[in-house]
Amino acid sequence: MLKTYLVTGGAGFIGSNLIQELLQDSNNKVICIDNFDSYYSKEVKLNNINRSRDNINFEFYDIDILDLLSLKEIFKKYNFNYIIHLAAKAGVRSSFENPLDYAQVNVLGTLNLLDIAKDYNIKKFIFASSSSVYGVNKGLFSEGMKLGKPISPYAASKISAENFCYTYNINYNIPIICLRFFTVYGPYQRPDLAISKFTKFIIENKKIPFYGNGETKRDYTYIDDIISGIISSINYDTTNFEIINLGSNNPITLSNLVEILEQNLGKKASFEKMKIPNGDVPSTFADLTKAEKLLNYKPQINISTGIEKFISWFKENYYK
Ligand SMILES: NC(=O)c1ccc[n+]([C@@H]2O[C@H](COP(=O)([O-])OP(=O)(O)OC[C@H]3O[C@@H](n4cnc5c(N)ncnc54)[C@H](O)[C@@H]3O)[C@@H](O)[C@H]2O)c1
Repeated sequence: MLKTYLVTGGAGFIGSNLIQELLQDSNNKVICIDNFDSYYSKEVKLNNINRSRDNINFEFYDIDILDLLSLKEIFKKYNFNYIIHLAAKAGVRSSFENPLDYAQVNVLGTLNLLDIAKDYNIKKFIFASSSSVYGVNKGLFSEGMKLGKPISPYAASKISAENFCYTYNINYNIPIICLRFFTVYGPYQRPDLAISKFTKFIIENKKIPFYGNGETKRDYTYIDDIISGIISSINYDTTNFEIINLGSNNPITLSNLVEILEQNLGKKASFEKMKIPNGDVPSTFADLTKAEKLLNYKPQINISTGIEKFISWFKENYYK
């Protein structure tokens, strides 16, 4: 039986990789909406979705999730079974420059989708949340931890959207999973993220922007592991509201990340030292107990293998 998916933000990094995976199954029809938000180049996003364009089960619409009327039309037209809501203003640092835009897109945009979804028989609504909701914390980040101390407008917008997800689940019975992604990397990665930027700068002999003393830690997670976690969440139906971490459970320092990139590129980096910007947390560290129990999620790709795969994609795409 044909299953129909709405993927919002599907021209982005995670969305375009997810769509490729969904289209492997000819029983899946994928409708992608994206407004080519100016956070990074439209060209990169067109390149992301061009991979899926010739599949007859794929359709793309240039729609803003703040455009309620267009959203309503698209829901009416397709009667979606699954909604994977990835569209967002991404990026912690730039959320200080445009906090209102972040609140609008990440909170009101999510609310628009939930409010339309309540009138349809949706089998699962997946919301892309973030490790940033944990704020400044030590040790493992577990889903049951008390939140309430977001240190960036981006983090605050994700907590707020998670709250609306709960409200719509409890009142309208929409089955919802909020997935808290931990620093995702891999082919088609956003150009603003450290791994992309550092790789480009090392190749081009430019100084990499290096924040603090290199001791900040991130639980970098390879895109294929995130995609397999999203697919398991789509299929999970034991309970109808969950918040689940998708990470790697293996944080590494910024200095360590640079060393791995240098080894893979066979070149030394040079640095432009900078102060740690507002909003950057000292560490992230995913507790995956719940993901493993509910989704059988076990990350497969360690950082060395992941970086090797990323770099070979990066060179192939940008330095042929
Ligand atoms: N990449 C990560 O490390 C990471 C970590 C935690 C959470 N997330 C979340 O996962 C989701 C996907 O992230 P990504 O890295 O693929 O980012 P991305 O920027 O590559 O993708 C997001 C997409 O949403 C689109 N978009 C933005 N505003 C829109 C609007 N108003 N209407 C329609 N489309 C809009 C953008 O054009 C973009 O293509 C986001 O919600 C992000 O906050 C990502």
